[in-house]
Amino acid sequence: LIVTTGSQQALDLIGKTMISPGDKVIVEAPTFLATIQCFRLYGANIIGAPIDADGVDVDQLEALIEEHQPKLVYLIPTFGNPSGATLSLARRKRILEIAARTKTLIVEDDPYGELYFDTPPPPSLLALSDGVPGSRDWLAHCGSFSKILSPGLRVGWLIAPPELLARATMCKQFSDAHTSNLTQAICAHYLTLNRLNPTLAVVRKTYAERARVMAESLRRELGDAIEFNQPQGGMFFWAQLTGAQGKPSNAAEFAKRAIDQGVAFVPGAPFYAHDPDLATLRLSFATADVAKIEEGVARLARAL
Ligand SMILES: Cc1ncc(COP(=O)(O)O)c(C=O)c1O
Repeated sequence: LIVTTGSQQALDLIGKTMISPGDKVIVEAPTFLATIQCFRLYGANIIGAPIDADGVDVDQLEALIEEHQPKLVYLIPTFGNPSGATLSLARRKRILEIAARTKTLIVEDDPYGELYFDTPPPPSLLALSDGVPGSRDWLAHCGSFSKILSPGLRVGWLIAPPELLARATMCKQFSDAHTSNLTQAICAHYLTLNRLNPTLAVVRKTYAERARVMAESLRRELGDAIEFNQPQGGMFFWAQLTGAQGKPSNAAEFAKRAIDQGVAFVPGAPFYAHDPDLATLRLSFATADVAKIEEGVARLARAL
């Protein structure tokens, strides 16, 4: 394990150590925008694998791996950004088996796993890898304090096979020597005080309530104009404009009208490496309280 300056640095180090111009990399479609941008900077040829409410479609992922023999596969298996989707236990085990069989590096980015509402999600790929022979050699795992303590501390971590970790450590020395001792000490102190679990209990309850209110408001205010899957944790709703009865079907245009009403969301297109679904959008319920969420969704309805 190495401590990184946020998990964003872990992703950058993976890009720097693993990706040469023209290398193929498979990501979920949609996936975290900054990862697409970061891997592209290293010249990756990015290929999107489709997802549904249970995370990435493993049959299609397996076929894409066989076809393209990618340098790595990047996944956010738990409460994905932007999809909110969580990979089922069965699919997790299959992905580990595929990784070991095809000798393909899987990068598990897991900043949201602790932010479940009621039921804990299935164990991470990292936790499950002990039960799937050979898979640990083909797995890197990124974690972060950003979503569970404070993003400004910039403390994350990378767990990876020793060869990758050794190279990542060398690259890190050239980039920032080491992650701030001060912020690492703050995290360590916080953990020693046993404050994390009580805080997480409050955060889980608060986010669950906000997500419930957002879902109810969206159904009430936007009706058949929008479709979405109800997330079970994390920070996001991933939604699709239906265009029903002349209502909007292009999220970028709808975003401009929403801003005129004083509310913002992120159109979904930039979260796709290729062939964006222009009707998609990401709504976050993390920072606004319940009253603001209701008001925000009412403004979205006025922008229809
Ligand atoms: C999926 C995912 N990975 C990584 C990050 C980067 O987080 P940080 O660098 O703050 O740890 C984010 C932040 O939004 C994210 O959503």
